[in-house]
Amino acid sequence: MDAARSLDVLWVMQDAPVIPVIVLSEVAHAVPLARALVAGGIRMLEITLRSPQALACMQAIAAEVPDAVLGAGTVRNAQDARAAAAAGARFAVSPGYTGSLGRACLDLGLPLLPGVATASDIMRCQDDGLCAFKFFPALAAGGATMLKAWGGPFAEARFCPTGGVTLHNAPALLALPNVVCVGGSWLVPPDALERADWPRITRLAQEAVALRPGARASLC
Ligand code: 3PG
Repeated sequence: MDAARSLDVLWVMQDAPVIPVIVLSEVAHAVPLARALVAGGIRMLEITLRSPQALACMQAIAAEVPDAVLGAGTVRNAQDARAAAAAGARFAVSPGYTGSLGRACLDLGLPLLPGVATASDIMRCQDDGLCAFKFFPALAAGGATMLKAWGGPFAEARFCPTGGVTLHNAPALLALPNVVCVGGSWLVPPDALERADWPRITRLAQEAVALRPGARASLC
């Protein structure tokens, strides 16, 4: 496979310290939510394929929020990847990795941030030319301790830990040399969506952007 495609994923990862993991069940929320996040400085948006409305939400954002860079999350197979690309996704995030998913994303020109939780997962992805990974579920699978351990055999690998990450534990993860960004759902609380409290979401995005005022992790 083409190793160069990981550079595109690194571009996504480097834009802000946090990639928001977004679950939308109402299409009407999609555009104001995306605008609120962009207003707070978060442009890379991971819309998870966890609701029947996810693809319609992605289409709405792709059509109406040009400053957002739309990603699809919870992409589990080639069919998901194709549907996400057709709905306007420009990158894909998956909870794990399969060769068929990797090939589909490559065929679609869709940069993939694949989920890994073990050394073997990383090696399988590296065999297919990938060098940047979502570490999932990060806190349950060892958190900062695991990332430090992977820095030995996989010094060149770069990570976006996701799963259990919060505003409070993110700084310790972002301080690690192999962490480019983190992922998390805390930027889009369900009650803020229900109340259409877009200013709160903009404030949460601003707090997230402020997590890393300094230098970013170097590329692999
Ligand atoms: C994911 O899909 O990446 C996680 O479910 C997000 O985890 P969080 O809700 O703990 O941030």
